[in-house]
Amino acid sequence: MKPETRAAELRALIDYHTERYYLLDDPEISDAEFDALLRELEELETAHPDLVTSDSPTQRTGGARSATFAPVTHLVRMLSLDNAFSRDELVAWYERISKIVDDPIHFVGEPKLDGLAISLLFENGRLTGAATRGDGVTGEDVTPNVATITSIPKRLGGKQIPARLEVRGEVFMPLTSFTELNRRQGEAEERLFANPRNAAAGSLRQKDPHVTASRDLDFFAYQLGVLEGGPALHSHHETLAWIRDLGLPVNPRIKQLSAIDEVFGFCEEMLERRHSLGYEIDGAVVKVDDLAQRAEMGATSKAPRWAIAYKFPPEEKTTLLLNIMVSIGRTGRATPFAQLEPVFVGGSTVGLATLHNEDELARKDVRKGDTVIVRKAGDVIPEVVGPVLAKRPKRARRWKFPKECPACGAPLVRLEGDANHHCDNVECPEQRVQRICHFASRGAMDIEGLGEERVRQFVDAGLLNDAGDIYSLTVERLLPLERMAQKSAENLVDAIEASKPRGLARVLVGLSIRHLGPTAAQAVARAMGSLDAVEAAPVETLTVIDGVGGVIAESVRHFFTIDANREVVEKLRAAGVDLTAPKVEVLEGAATLAGVSIVLTGVLQGGPRDQAQEAIEARGGKVTSTVSKKTSYVVAGENPGSKLAKAESLGVPVLDEAGFAHLLEHGPSEAKPEAGAGSGE
Ligand code: IVH
Repeated sequence: MKPETRAAELRALIDYHTERYYLLDDPEISDAEFDALLRELEELETAHPDLVTSDSPTQRTGGARSATFAPVTHLVRMLSLDNAFSRDELVAWYERISKIVDDPIHFVGEPKLDGLAISLLFENGRLTGAATRGDGVTGEDVTPNVATITSIPKRLGGKQIPARLEVRGEVFMPLTSFTELNRRQGEAEERLFANPRNAAAGSLRQKDPHVTASRDLDFFAYQLGVLEGGPALHSHHETLAWIRDLGLPVNPRIKQLSAIDEVFGFCEEMLERRHSLGYEIDGAVVKVDDLAQRAEMGATSKAPRWAIAYKFPPEEKTTLLLNIMVSIGRTGRATPFAQLEPVFVGGSTVGLATLHNEDELARKDVRKGDTVIVRKAGDVIPEVVGPVLAKRPKRARRWKFPKECPACGAPLVRLEGDANHHCDNVECPEQRVQRICHFASRGAMDIEGLGEERVRQFVDAGLLNDAGDIYSLTVERLLPLERMAQKSAENLVDAIEASKPRGLARVLVGLSIRHLGPTAAQAVARAMGSLDAVEAAPVETLTVIDGVGGVIAESVRHFFTIDANREVVEKLRAAGVDLTAPKVEVLEGAATLAGVSIVLTGVLQGGPRDQAQEAIEARGGKVTSTVSKKTSYVVAGENPGSKLAKAESLGVPVLDEAGFAHLLEHGPSEAKPEAGAGSGE
């Protein structure tokens, strides 16, 4: 192919994928593939300078704008960063900049957050504007949306409030929030986000700020744009410390590095930690610390010379797609998934990956026998990105959705307006297994030792027909089964017994009532107080409950009209399962935590989260999910993730479990935060 033909082709491809990424928040190819296209074009243009056009993607800074938001012209151009993909490229960068200045260079190392760049404008201490980067010159005005991000102060604090301050940083979505968002999206049968970055971008670029507010976005500042009427600053580390004093969150992992060797060490450290930060990073950013040296080095039209992004190798692998199968969920939903030649990617081995639904599969058009690209979005869901077409076997056929349920043979139907197929047979044995598994799962009745394998075994042996039968399992009935020793039978029966007092909210979750997720179940339980009341409640009563809409109310109503469901409830009642909601009443004189707001994060050893929540609420305190300056305490269990980092950056006191127990017992006046609890640093 002629170079000019290939260059034109690459430009068209890059433009197409830029639009999918920035405007539609719905990329089709991986970052690594995109970078490869851009590099190829850059190399081609370097070899044939006459091919460079003024509108070539190589001459741009990245994003594009949409018509939904008003344009904002940046006070100072928002540049991008040049990339280094290897240690050699880092060294090459170091050698280039060393030639420009005489004195030794000191650096600052920062995690490269995988979110989206935002510029914040503060005038006389008040947040007056927020804009995306756009093409670097003009961005989009997203002020009302950014104002919903709790970690971004609306007013600056500190001693020296500047007349005008423009700060740049990254808006991102912590991994726990991303998982939770996709769970909610899935529950509501909405589109799932490919990764936390797309989720962050999609959440920020919403017409309705209320939607943004519900998405739990976070922010770290990393660069000064414009400063008028502030202190004289000489270095980047000094700048960041000052920005932090003003109340803006600055990543606590940022480090001063005195020489290039320490830069390598920092990049390696980030690579090692990338899966334990609680948010996604795709590299490390290395910046020259001294601002006078920066000025000497200057910038190209795209990026400053004084900074470089060290990009991690992609968390993507190719593997063989062995088969495409369909799984049946507890509500009968039929989900296609790929069986893969196991491959190690993103910190774990992946052998199965969801293909979501018929349309998604058709869009990706992956086929049995294809070599496919597999990606891990954060530590979360493994995903098949697409096929490597060059390696497609000749006879590979397009996959067709099966007409019959693989478990019971009933027809799989797809209703109009629904992306999913369903097996409509309530008696379907697979649905039954999945419903029982769900009932016993951690989010519902949390019966230890009753996993999918056991449930299948018990269903096959005729011991379980529905979730209600779980409570009729006895050691005597279990013992004759294969792989069932006396001790394990006893443990299982004990675990079943221990689940009886979990309360109404968990029972409601466990019953697999369509559309009724854990949050709504909790609201229904608290409002109604008992299962009897829920069963008897007309739709009108249910819809009054905060967080319960018409769809959920109808679904709850419908659930109790079905005989099989009422039978399950009867069995639970007969077995003595607690079908009431714990009364959360503040005892007079015992409201020791009135006005106190607490964020729980990580795994608490002392008991499940809702127990901790009840304990706090019973004392008049409030539990919230996002850390802000208004948060009184963060209680950090094991693997606390980004909320801990945020608490540290905002100066919110952090309690370990002992500190929390102390707080519950003695109230806030005596609670002492444990220095650095759980931070591991
Ligand atoms: S500094 C002129 N610092 O990476 C300096 N950028 O690939 C511009 N990013 O547009 C940015 N973490 O969205 C900087 N610690 C960090 C960063 C960071 C993530 C993003 C940012 C930027 C992109 C460039």
